[in-house]
Amino acid sequence: MIRAKILGTGAAVPKRILSNADLEKLVETSDDWITSRTGIRERHIVSEGEHFSDLCTRAGELALKRAHVKPEELDMILVGTISGDMPFPATSCLVQRNLGATRAAASDVSAACVGFLYALHLADGLIQSGKAQNVLVIGGEILSRYVDWTDRNTCVLFGDGAGAVLLQATRGDHGILGSIMKANGSYHDFICMPGGGSDRPANDPKSIEERLPYIKMKGNETFRVAVKAMADVSQELLSEQGFTHEQVDHFIPHQANVRIIDAVSEKLKIDPRKVYKNIERFGNTSAASIPIALDELVREDRVKDGDMVLMTAFGAGLVWGSVLLRW
Ligand code: UT7
Repeated sequence: MIRAKILGTGAAVPKRILSNADLEKLVETSDDWITSRTGIRERHIVSEGEHFSDLCTRAGELALKRAHVKPEELDMILVGTISGDMPFPATSCLVQRNLGATRAAASDVSAACVGFLYALHLADGLIQSGKAQNVLVIGGEILSRYVDWTDRNTCVLFGDGAGAVLLQATRGDHGILGSIMKANGSYHDFICMPGGGSDRPANDPKSIEERLPYIKMKGNETFRVAVKAMADVSQELLSEQGFTHEQVDHFIPHQANVRIIDAVSEKLKIDPRKVYKNIERFGNTSAASIPIALDELVREDRVKDGDMVLMTAFGAGLVWGSVLLRW
């Protein structure tokens, strides 16, 4: 059976760090509130002149280098993001140019914080069907450019960054074993940016006046749905593939809130030592959170041959999903 296997990982975050103390100077908040309610202490934020496509390119280059795959060998580049350089063309096309991946097709995948897992799910399908041999999957975001820096409910949460994996077709029982993606558009207004699309274009002065091209979130409602959705879909995937929670060696949940991570892990009965958390240092980097975490785990040499890795995410749409793989 053909499987999609991760051969290399990479990540890139901006140099500039915004601490909770910095945020105390911007809005009425405190380090104590942010740490206790979210687990976040600092986040990386782009400076003026930094481009999202450059972060994606850096992460992608590292993944390719570590996989010993040349850009010209790529069949497809998928970038999971909702904050590309421009509404169009797709950021993946800019990455394709930057890498010199002349043979690769390129497209962006819009699934907010689940963008990386949705892209992985699609890439797995391309590889299993024989349509692609080498796919570069990137998850990244520069949400700091869409955050309303006067809204304390959201501006303390997000950070910028990108992570990448190189997937290659392989035979055997290593690689992606299964993935399940879900959506429920009835809750599209739980997290959204109402301006900047064709409904309320960013070039309409009224959009700016009404502060529409900014992230809006019903935090509390989202929290409750997120915990149940991620736990349920992860359990469904484990059962579908014939595994139990004890067999998971590494659990990488989307890093949106440490209380959500703990609640999901508890529901799934996963040993806390197997749960990866880096939200303290990066905040919620949306589509980048899982590939950055995976890259850190790999860099720390903690993922051994044959280890079972379970990843799950939740985000605007609403969308959610899980991917299970054997390293
Ligand atoms: O990544 C995509 C998915 N996103 C998520 O999963 C996010 C899910 N939601 C959350 O993580 C949490 O709901 C938040 C961190 C956003 C908020 O935490 P919460 O415990 O749900 O707080 P809350 O919204 O119930 O607000 C509690 C209080 C409110 O004050 P009142 O109305 O009780 O007086 C807020 O105004 O905390 C206040 N508050 C703040 N206070 C200080 C909200 N933000 C802040 C802040 N600093 N930054």
